[in-house]
Amino acid sequence: MTRPQLPLTRRSFLAGSAVAGLAAITGCGAPAASGPPALPLRPGPMTLDLAGTGARTWGYGTVPGPEIRLRAGELLRVRVQNGLPDDTTVHWHGLAPPNAMDGVPGVTQRPIAPGGEFLYEFRTPVPGSFMYHAHVGMQLDRGLYGPLVVEPRDEPLAYDREHTLMLDDWADGVDEHRGHAGGEPGTPAVPDAREVVSFGGRRYPFLLVNGRPPEDPAVVEGRPGDRLRLRVMNVAADTGFRFAIAGHPLTITHTDGMPVEPVTVDALRLGMGERYDVLVDLRQRGGTWQIGVQPEGRPGQGRAVLRYTGSPASATPPAESRPAELDGRLAGYDELLATEPLPVPTGSPDRVFDLTLEGTEINGQSYPDADPLPVADGEWVRLNLRNTGAKWHPMHLHGHHFQVRTPSGRGPVKDTVAVPSRGGEVSIDFLATNPGRWLFHCHNHHHMEDGMVRLVDYGR
Ligand code: C2O
Ligand code: CU
Repeated sequence: MTRPQLPLTRRSFLAGSAVAGLAAITGCGAPAASGPPALPLRPGPMTLDLAGTGARTWGYGTVPGPEIRLRAGELLRVRVQNGLPDDTTVHWHGLAPPNAMDGVPGVTQRPIAPGGEFLYEFRTPVPGSFMYHAHVGMQLDRGLYGPLVVEPRDEPLAYDREHTLMLDDWADGVDEHRGHAGGEPGTPAVPDAREVVSFGGRRYPFLLVNGRPPEDPAVVEGRPGDRLRLRVMNVAADTGFRFAIAGHPLTITHTDGMPVEPVTVDALRLGMGERYDVLVDLRQRGGTWQIGVQPEGRPGQGRAVLRYTGSPASATPPAESRPAELDGRLAGYDELLATEPLPVPTGSPDRVFDLTLEGTEINGQSYPDADPLPVADGEWVRLNLRNTGAKWHPMHLHGHHFQVRTPSGRGPVKDTVAVPSRGGEVSIDFLATNPGRWLFHCHNHHHMEDGMVRLVDYGR
């Protein structure tokens, strides 16, 4: 299995431009003068190697799928050739394409039948760290996901290398008695204690980073004095993660791809669908350091490792070694300041929706038996979210970026926001500037499948 972990220096990726990333998929040369050729993306059955055990799954050839990398303003052209024995679509999580390219079956397109094809084609003007994934049923809970990076025309950050880390919970194609994520198989879900942060309750025997279990960890490499950029993405179905690197603080520069004033923390908390970009200074002299990925409210740990170039593989920490930083300082949304806030006018919003999240219902309704949220082109829309349940819900809006309302008045711009349990409230604003019918849903796939979904509908 190829897992491209190419250490890209700033220079090499700037010089490489989008073509390098795209060529990784196509395996062929320069694009035609008229524009880039369509990249083939082939969902199909495959085997994922979990430290020597094969797990039968569905994926895009590798897990994660091939990185798609573009420059801001370029055309994304991906031809999906469905090799699955089931319908599929691809959703570009965090991007705001025209509605017909959003990849939601029955809402924005007819699903792609087995053996069928579909060409996704749209411009990507907004840089950031995004993901692509299947959007039919629980397909995303298999290996049908990958990273999508849109580079700015002019990179404002200085760093030496970058790596993307995709965090996942995994059960597909494995004997559920195996694994390292703790809990006896078949044990009934115990209700969470009050103080526990939990985004889900299912048993997932494996926690993976870039498709790899702790016994065969993904390796992030660098030299003393290097500055790394990490794009950390939670693509799990049912698991919120705490993320930290032993011996190395993290400086947050982006949430969900959108820039914030830098804030240095010990650890990140990521709900499903959330991403953080962080800078990490390699301030140690050498060695191999644990990158701990702990499921919120659950036992077990996934991991990757940070290896200083030249450190022996034998220096790799034991799989269960737990960075103390996981218990250190986190930054709440209140502490993050957007450097490019949404141009929300002064005054009050044109529409306000008060949405109570209760169990997996929104205002007592389950999609598709749920009222759409009507908006009109050009409106300023506010969603007031209140969560009365025991689970945190990472709520994701398709097709728009929203701004989290915080006391600073300059909360982070995001596309997925975690609403805390037991009375937690989050309020978000967005500008309705992308007509169509867009999903707003919990990114816990089980909750989504239970109907924790609404349609934001511009009408016609
Ligand atoms: Cu990652 Cu409906 O989305
Ligand atoms: Cu949920």
